[in-house]
Amino acid sequence: MNQDQLKQLVGRAALDYVTPGQIVGVGTGSTVDCFIDALAASGIAVAGAVSSSERSTKRLQQHGIRVLDAAEVTGLTVYIDGADEIDHQGFMIKGGGAALTREKIVADLAKTFVCIADASKLVQTLGRFPLPVEIIPMAAAQLTRRFAALGGSATLRAGVVTDNGGHILDVTGLSITDPLAFEAEVNQWPGVVTVGVFARHKAQVCLLGGADGVRTLSF
Ligand code: 5RP
Repeated sequence: MNQDQLKQLVGRAALDYVTPGQIVGVGTGSTVDCFIDALAASGIAVAGAVSSSERSTKRLQQHGIRVLDAAEVTGLTVYIDGADEIDHQGFMIKGGGAALTREKIVADLAKTFVCIADASKLVQTLGRFPLPVEIIPMAAAQLTRRFAALGGSATLRAGVVTDNGGHILDVTGLSITDPLAFEAEVNQWPGVVTVGVFARHKAQVCLLGGADGVRTLSF
């Protein structure tokens, strides 16, 4: 199976976590696109979805799935999203699609984060994938210096403005051995909107697609 087929596989597997009448939290990315398509094809009559991006909202609505504003719900049973990296404790790097801030907001509403990913995303230590950080543009130079002090090299993602009007720094050269401490530290740097380490909002379940099919990891 190629990577696209693995994404479709885990997108379909995530349907096991969706029940009729539910409002489901929906992430962003090519794997989530597969989940949205699978949900539409499944005939499971969800009450609606809370979406983490304009991209996912458009796809959900194209399928006739109602999209609710985050403010219309008090909580969600499940949030389904992809990841750029996930470790063996369910900590993740996210934001390759620049949707990390809204993804963390919707994840915060949910009891269970179900991560859907192909097996290439499973890592021992987070940091090989360039860490996305949504920032206020004015802070870019100072934040670049702060990351350099941690051994990281930050680059502004050219031409990208997030759904919130923010910019993205991609940081290479980091080895994130303590994701909880790293997230807490970077989050309080002035000008950081959201750091793409999902430690406090880690996955409880990961559906990992590989040559042998879908492996379920629980954290
Ligand atoms: C978007 C994300 C995505 O979940 C992540 O980039 C994985 O994307 P894909 O499923 O396309 O590999 O965090 O901001």
